[in-house]
Amino acid sequence: MTDKRIGWIGLGKMGAPMALNLVAAGFPLTVYNRTAAKTAPLAEAGAGVAASIAELAGASDIVFSMIDDDAALEAVAAEVLAAATPGTVYADMSTVSPAASARVAERAAAAEIAYVRAPVLGSTNFAAAAQLVVLVSGPEDACAACTPVFAALGRKIVSMGVGEEARTVKLVINMMIGTTAAMVGEALTFGERAGLDWATMIDVIADSPVASPLVGYKTQMLKERDFAPAFSAAQMAKDFDLILDTARAGDLPMPVAGTVRQLWSAMMAGGRGELDMFACVAQLEAMAGLDAPSEGQKSSG
Ligand SMILES: NC(=O)c1ccc[n+]([C@@H]2O[C@H](COP(=O)([O-])OP(=O)(O)OC[C@H]3O[C@@H](n4cnc5c(N)ncnc54)[C@H](OP(=O)(O)O)[C@@H]3O)[C@@H](O)[C@H]2O)c1
Repeated sequence: MTDKRIGWIGLGKMGAPMALNLVAAGFPLTVYNRTAAKTAPLAEAGAGVAASIAELAGASDIVFSMIDDDAALEAVAAEVLAAATPGTVYADMSTVSPAASARVAERAAAAEIAYVRAPVLGSTNFAAAAQLVVLVSGPEDACAACTPVFAALGRKIVSMGVGEEARTVKLVINMMIGTTAAMVGEALTFGERAGLDWATMIDVIADSPVASPLVGYKTQMLKERDFAPAFSAAQMAKDFDLILDTARAGDLPMPVAGTVRQLWSAMMAGGRGELDMFACVAQLEAMAGLDAPSEGQKSSG
């Protein structure tokens, strides 16, 4: 617990359950969301609501953000840094590129605001259950000031360093998560084409050496073909762009990530961009000319 005044920006699929957990844990919380209607459940739960980022930043000791991407980070950070008083801590928990984050770090240093990078592992259900893994890098004192808040959001806090380490390791993990989704989708399509029973094939995969916690979380979704997004294909496209742009800047070849990125484009072009990334199986079935059940249609398994 902390007696510091906490400001929270971003009440999307992740930010809303995270902020609700902070209210439930008793933190003095003020929230802001660009689309004001999304603040209603937080207000009902007892949080204060700010009408602008400037209002929130001016009245907070620590400001957190959980927002989309590089562009959102740079826009939100500009407003936070302009309004926060020197000594305020700004912690961003979004998935963004190390390069954009480093630009914000420079601006934060000039404004005498301590800047913490704290992306998370775990999707919306983990956010709701306060079971995230929080990957943290930044100035030690500022990271320590955020620790009680991180502890209320997750099951584990990992200190990665003082710079962009947390941003980088988040991209390392997401490259593997996206590649796993693509691999599972392609393998399922291969088995389906050969006439395997859908549910039995998924059960075999889930109990095989290639099973992982991720494959386990997605087993039911795949069996039921219920692709409501925890993390959408469009969001994964964004993360693969962060990964590939970062790699390209250093002439690092990433042939696997480069190929998998095409699948997210195919999904977005095929109207599946807002479905869960594991709906890539439906995209691959369509590409294979398979007459698969439509998304959302339950299987008997
Ligand atoms: N979903 C997951 O499973 C998951 C897991 C781990 C990490 N992440 C990462 O967490 C971050 C948030 O993900 P999410 O799923 O919560 O996304 P989301 O549901 O799309 O929510 C995005 C939030 O960012 C706000 N936003 C976007 N651009 C903004 C701007 N320029 N100024 C102010 N606010 C802005 C949105 O405001 P509006 O409501 O006005 O649009 C919304 O509150 C992303 O970086 C994502 O990659 C997601």
